[in-house]
Amino acid sequence: MKILVVGNGGREHVLCWKLKQSRHADKIYCAPGNAGIADVAECVAINADELDKLADFALVNGVDFTVVGPEAPLCAGLVDVFNQRGLKAFGPDSMSAQLEGSKDFAKQFMLRHRIPTAAAASFSSVAPAISYIKAEFDRGVKGIVVKADGLAAGKGVFVAENASSAIDFVESCFAGTFGHAGSKVLIEECLYGEEASILALVDGKTIVPLATSQDHKRAFDNDRGPNTGGMGAYSPAPVVSDKVMQQIKEEVLDRFLVGIKEDKLYFRGVLFVGVMVTENGPKVLEFNVRFGDPEVQAVMCRLESDLLDVMLKTVDGRLNEAELSWSDEPAVCVVMASGGYPGNYEKGYEISGLADAATNGAVVFHAGSAFKNGRIVNSGGRVLGVTARGGTIQQAIANAYRGVDAIHWQNCFCRRDIGFRALAREHN
Ligand code: AMP
Ligand code: GLY
Repeated sequence: MKILVVGNGGREHVLCWKLKQSRHADKIYCAPGNAGIADVAECVAINADELDKLADFALVNGVDFTVVGPEAPLCAGLVDVFNQRGLKAFGPDSMSAQLEGSKDFAKQFMLRHRIPTAAAASFSSVAPAISYIKAEFDRGVKGIVVKADGLAAGKGVFVAENASSAIDFVESCFAGTFGHAGSKVLIEECLYGEEASILALVDGKTIVPLATSQDHKRAFDNDRGPNTGGMGAYSPAPVVSDKVMQQIKEEVLDRFLVGIKEDKLYFRGVLFVGVMVTENGPKVLEFNVRFGDPEVQAVMCRLESDLLDVMLKTVDGRLNEAELSWSDEPAVCVVMASGGYPGNYEKGYEISGLADAATNGAVVFHAGSAFKNGRIVNSGGRVLGVTARGGTIQQAIANAYRGVDAIHWQNCFCRRDIGFRALAREHN
């Protein structure tokens, strides 16, 4: 089969890497890909938002199956365009992608289908939002969460511990900091607990959770510094005990499935549920309609089944026939980033040690990397996801950092504490 993967991040690299292991994969294209993806796929110079060009490419080149990595092309309707043109694609259509594309749409869906989540109110203008914030802090809440409604590349959420910072954020949303995404805001109750990422395949009739994982969103050790796209991940996430997973299945995943049926939403792809495991059980922080990055690096390194087979069954509505098997070994992904990320950073520095990291047993997935004069240089904020398994979480962490320590470029940095919550649970 010929496969096209759309996107250019670490997520797309690990998907190409895993799909290539399938006996049915003859050829893998990635549009646009990156310097690391070029090792496992043929990179095609079409961007993820060029929907018609992508469909033309798939038709001309006889692509049998397309996997869409990022949320933006899903929200823009890539799967709708492909389906209209008779092409098979993994992912929800544009209406269902609103579960990620609009926080308000997602919240209404959760409330309508009794999926546990934070209480929230939505606002389309500044003054009532400010009155609401003041009233909440006056009644004694410790914090509230303000969310720009639309896609904001992970930057549209602010957890506020006082009214003035919440108001500043609301004002910046309505002043256009996030473009159209900020023309509506959601103000939520603040939840407390430990977060986990639940990925689940959905074919409209069946929902199958993948191995659990946990992200590290803050830039620096001990969860300090600004939020990022994710600085590292591990799988499984021990915070999701069997009991918590059972609750997630019954109260979130099963209700999600009923919800998309009742609402007549087309969804054949992956649902990513950001969960807060609170004292009162798991509650949904957000839905995303694509694989989490870097979570998927850790999760895919543990998948023993044929990913292509499972994805095809998802799109064909035969997910009930899929069998997933997992390695018992934990996996850890450490993200190496450009100095300054998530703020400004310099690009174009040569990356050394990639081959050494690989011989140390780690797999290095590329995100913001590019070729320059035949060498690989950093070209984005998050640059590499160095991923390894181990017999225990300690060993997996050690193996991933051994890979990290082999790699260098000017000003690179990473967190040194990926997996600390899993370690703490083991010691308790
Ligand atoms: P979201 O994009 O909605 O997942 O929000 C990004 C991050 O903000 C989450 O991963 C949480 O760390 C935090 N967050 C979002 N909603 C809440 C909430 N209701 N309570 C506490 N933290 C939240
Ligand atoms: N790692 C979080 C995300 O992919 O949104």
